Amino acid sequence: MRNKRPRRLREKTFIRNLVQETTVHKNDLIQPLFIVHGKEIKKEIDGMPGQYHLSVDQLSGEIKEIKEAGIKAVLLFGLPQYKDAFGSEAYDPRGIVQQGIREVREHFPEMLIMTDVCLCQYTDHGHCGIVENGKVLNDESLELIAQTALTHAQAGADTVAPSDMMDGRVAAIRQKLDLNDFQDVSIMSYSVKYASVFYGPFRQAAGSSPQFGDRRSYQMDPANVQEALREAQLDVEEGADMLMVKPALAYLDVIKTVKDHFPLPLGAYQVSGEYSMIKNAVKGGLLNNDQIMVETLTSIKRAGADMIITYFAKEMARWIDNHR
Ligand code: PBG
Repeated sequence: MRNKRPRRLREKTFIRNLVQETTVHKNDLIQPLFIVHGKEIKKEIDGMPGQYHLSVDQLSGEIKEIKEAGIKAVLLFGLPQYKDAFGSEAYDPRGIVQQGIREVREHFPEMLIMTDVCLCQYTDHGHCGIVENGKVLNDESLELIAQTALTHAQAGADTVAPSDMMDGRVAAIRQKLDLNDFQDVSIMSYSVKYASVFYGPFRQAAGSSPQFGDRRSYQMDPANVQEALREAQLDVEEGADMLMVKPALAYLDVIKTVKDHFPLPLGAYQVSGEYSMIKNAVKGGLLNNDQIMVETLTSIKRAGADMIITYFAKEMARWIDNHR
């Protein structure tokens, strides 16, 4: 006699749905967007089909689509007009991201506006902080990073997301925001950000590749997971409201470990390289787009992510409409 038959619960769609443990919802998804200077620009990004460089006047059109699909959160990135050693446009109140935030705030008051806080797109050397004698200076960079977050808050951001990986940045940002009466602006820290090759397409799209060396003196070694706990711990102590692990698919164990240790909302970032690999395989006829989209996002959530930053957000929301 065979009294244990797991297949019983896989027999029909409705029972499979009934016992399904993990379901990705629209509320879990955050759509990244790239804002550029200029007018009437909506240019598809190389290697990232469906993702665009958008001028501020085109932003509302795209966000309208995102909102109609049911996505309620966006993560804004900017490509500056000028770069210098100190990444000045990052904290220019009239900078590209600040303009974008105001545009979204004005037309979509309900949209959750998250912003990436970093200097690498804005510095001529492409590093995430100030550089002196080839070294990325930590404490000197904090003031600029905190100032960047403040200008985002002043423009109307709900959540700032520091991705620079300098030590102490969450505390520096929290203090700067509080001193300026932005107690209600939350911080989602890129707590566990690896020095990953998966950021390649993003760096091309954002023009943010380091002009010398690499980011291994501040981003984490992909070999480490204990260190992920130390990084997350620091961010919790410094006042982060939400944590994040990035990239996602190659770091599911890290997502799980961080989630098991910290009772904070946890994000995972399915980054540009993950998206490009998938889209390329789809283009080559090797993988089914919708199936790989749903499987990867479900896996990231199953590992412990409460929310996922993904270039698939709008597409996934539309899939949910058509399939549930
Ligand atoms: C800025 C930043 C990067 C990404 C998000 N914020 C690039 C990097 O650290 O080099 C990567 C996002 C992606 O690959 O989709 N520091």
